[in-house]
Amino acid sequence: MKTEILEILRNSEGYVSGQQLCEKFQVSRTAVWKVIEQLKEEGYQIEAIRNKGYHLKESPDILSSANLESMMRTAWAGRSVLSFDTVDSTNIQAKKLGEKDGAHGLLVVAESQTAGKGRRGRNWQSPPGNSIYMSILLRPRIAPNKAPMLTLVMAQSAAEAVREVAGADVGIKWPNDLVLNKKKVCGILTEMSAEVDYIHYVVIGIGINVNEESFPEEISRTATSLRIESGRKYRRAELIAALMQRFEENYEMFMRTEDLSGIRQSYNSLLVNRGCGVRVLEPGKEYDGRALGIRDTGELLVQKPDGTVAEVYAGEVSVRGIYGYV
Ligand code: BTN
Repeated sequence: MKTEILEILRNSEGYVSGQQLCEKFQVSRTAVWKVIEQLKEEGYQIEAIRNKGYHLKESPDILSSANLESMMRTAWAGRSVLSFDTVDSTNIQAKKLGEKDGAHGLLVVAESQTAGKGRRGRNWQSPPGNSIYMSILLRPRIAPNKAPMLTLVMAQSAAEAVREVAGADVGIKWPNDLVLNKKKVCGILTEMSAEVDYIHYVVIGIGINVNEESFPEEISRTATSLRIESGRKYRRAELIAALMQRFEENYEMFMRTEDLSGIRQSYNSLLVNRGCGVRVLEPGKEYDGRALGIRDTGELLVQKPDGTVAEVYAGEVSVRGIYGYV
């Protein structure tokens, strides 16, 4: 009932009468009042006026499931949210639910992580207060070899959401880092459980640096936050809701064709390495070239000095800017 009351208050311009809420939920006025008091304790500013009702004046930027669910404008992505104050890793929790009966689209969110995971076995520092740490559970009915494309779908969706909510000129470093002023602002880690021809589940974890004012020295050369680059603070819950909306749209487009043809053009227009010199690090060999953009199936096309074009597969090789991180 808390989520629904919050949603009603959020979507009403004026006052919502207590009577209306009692009738809708078939509960007493005291029960409604108790929920309103709970919300106030959590930091919502709710005005209560006799004979008029309740009006939500201000919401805190908390990542509770009630707050997030009441903000979602999606049909299935992030419609159900499991929220933790502290957790080992949202990817680990989403995978546990993937092994059980966790529903397609379930979103796991945490204020902090004690064992945040990055790609290639690295760790993802996850202190509380400023960042977004979340993972979505998916059960796509596609061949397992197509699942890596979902990471690019998420990168595109995260870029669109950050642009919409923060107005930031964010770009994508292939395949799935978001960058702002040549520094990383978001990382994505996709994990999958599958048989040769059947996907049990996919978990896509996203970490976005939102309101950090600085970073530890060892990562400050390559990491940044939306706040550092713009001088402004952002509401994380709003960003999460926008990201889920963009992801749901892009995911459905992806599922219709089972490739990236629907987002390829916009992905390529956001690609920071496009037209740039890159170094491709393949196991056992390295070469320099110029990144041209992605194919419909997600590989990066790299033109070699001899004019031939190589297809670079994410996961098998890594691509670095010749002059730095991008
Ligand atoms: C990267 O190395 O760029 C990927 C970082 C992914 C971090 C996110 S934070 C939420 C989710 N839970 C994790 O343990 N990792 C991902």
